[in-house]
Amino acid sequence: MAKSNRVIIFDTTLRDGEQSPGMSMNLKEKIEMAKQLERMGVDVIEAGFAISSPGDFQSVKTVAETIKECTVASLARADKKDIDAAWEAVKGAADPRIHLFLATSELHMKYKLKMKPEAVLERVAQMTAYAKKYCANVQFSAEDATRTEMDFLAKAVEAAIRAGATTINLPDTVGYTTPEEHEKFFKEIHKRVPELAKITVSAHCHDDLGLAVANSLSAILGGARQAECTINGIGERAGNAALEEIVMGLYVRKNIYKVETGVDTTEIMRSSGLLSRITGVKIPPNKAIVGDNAFAHESGIHQHGVLENAATYEIMTPTVIGLKRNNLVLGKHSGKHAFEERLKTLGYNLTPSELEAAFKRFKEIADRKKQVYDKDIEAIAAKEAVQVPKIYGLDNFVINSGNTITSTAVVRLEREGRLYEKVAGGDGPIDAAFHAIGKILGRPLALEDFQLDSLSEGKDALGDARVVITDEKGRKYSGRGLSTDVIEASIKAYINAVNKIYFEEGSAPAKKENRTPAQKKSQASAKKGKQA
Ligand code: KIV
Ligand code: ZN
Repeated sequence: MAKSNRVIIFDTTLRDGEQSPGMSMNLKEKIEMAKQLERMGVDVIEAGFAISSPGDFQSVKTVAETIKECTVASLARADKKDIDAAWEAVKGAADPRIHLFLATSELHMKYKLKMKPEAVLERVAQMTAYAKKYCANVQFSAEDATRTEMDFLAKAVEAAIRAGATTINLPDTVGYTTPEEHEKFFKEIHKRVPELAKITVSAHCHDDLGLAVANSLSAILGGARQAECTINGIGERAGNAALEEIVMGLYVRKNIYKVETGVDTTEIMRSSGLLSRITGVKIPPNKAIVGDNAFAHESGIHQHGVLENAATYEIMTPTVIGLKRNNLVLGKHSGKHAFEERLKTLGYNLTPSELEAAFKRFKEIADRKKQVYDKDIEAIAAKEAVQVPKIYGLDNFVINSGNTITSTAVVRLEREGRLYEKVAGGDGPIDAAFHAIGKILGRPLALEDFQLDSLSEGKDALGDARVVITDEKGRKYSGRGLSTDVIEASIKAYINAVNKIYFEEGSAPAKKENRTPAQKKSQASAKKGKQA
């Protein structure tokens, strides 16, 4: 049977991507990301690993019930309890998929599963059939397929197909294969198992040797018609194959691959930026397709060529990936209408209350900064769109710092109309401010990572601070803050991460009340007035 020329894009940002260090997302963030993946036109969203935690179960279920245009999958080990949980989580989807996996390489069977090969084959058949009772759409993955002995892999694949699998995924779990070998591997398995021609064959590549995208493309040459990938290539260890690179590779070199995807490439930049903002992990400037420098031409010769004819040094136009070069500048005299129009052009459709909050933020920034660029506006809009509810807010802060003294910070936070203030010292003004917030919260949060960048050009550029903090249970939370004042941006980033903790905990009441002297005085006199 001739292979179709349509490649299914299976996005696993919310599963293989999210499970890697520093990439965790809360429920609201996962929903926001899933909606963006749907808007971009991926075919399958792997929303998580339902049995792995109650939080994962809930997010798979909510994504399944929210997303209408994509298949929604949950991962499951080849085990009844896992499959039950996966089905419970995805059954509300418009098109649910159970994705079960079992390792087939000798190394994994012997040392990890401690199972004999015959028992593995039996489990593949039994558990695929078990999943099939729930769901018509079942994917089986032979974990560590590229290091599996070919005869045995063919038997495992046959067993899964006979039991009803509709997609067979052959992962390069440890990023070991090479493009030439991978193409041959896919051709060989098609030869050994002719039934593969009737179902979808999938590639899932990791980037340990930096070959994940090249290997995914070569799998397509070998007959794979599903590519598993993540936005910005996030994932276990060195990451998974980057969605934007696979999609643009197929698009730009259609003469070689002769296939299409359903992805709206103009949504690529927005998906990449959204993930970076949510996780707080910056995209390297030289990252293919979505890095800041991917379309920047520094050399005079290149600049000259591009001005004469962009094709001299650009193999794709920036607009194809949704990169808007229009740096129309807004300022403090710009009205809400112009702001809203600009947001729409950039692809943001905020709700009226989000728009209100974003406009207020824009005005504050425009007051301090002469020119507000697209990057600033996108950061403001994205912040509103994925913001957790404000639990603590910054009321004010005063810092005393210098190179010969210990920095001290007085920080005052507001929560439900009450003010909480503490003083703390630290190694520099930002450290002191973070300690003061820690004192207000009265709990040991540890700062894991802190980054400070400038968002746009110019001396009045917005400071873009990102923090990662861990709570008492070791869970990581990222936060982001923007301000023309870098200390304020840093404090806001810290508070943003703190709010995520309290939001996830169901916003427990503040431990201690630390009213300021002025507040105590005004509340006391209000009380007196009432008594009089
Ligand atoms: O890398 C891998 O093998 C996986 C499977 C669970 C599909 O992520
Ligand atoms: Zn993987």
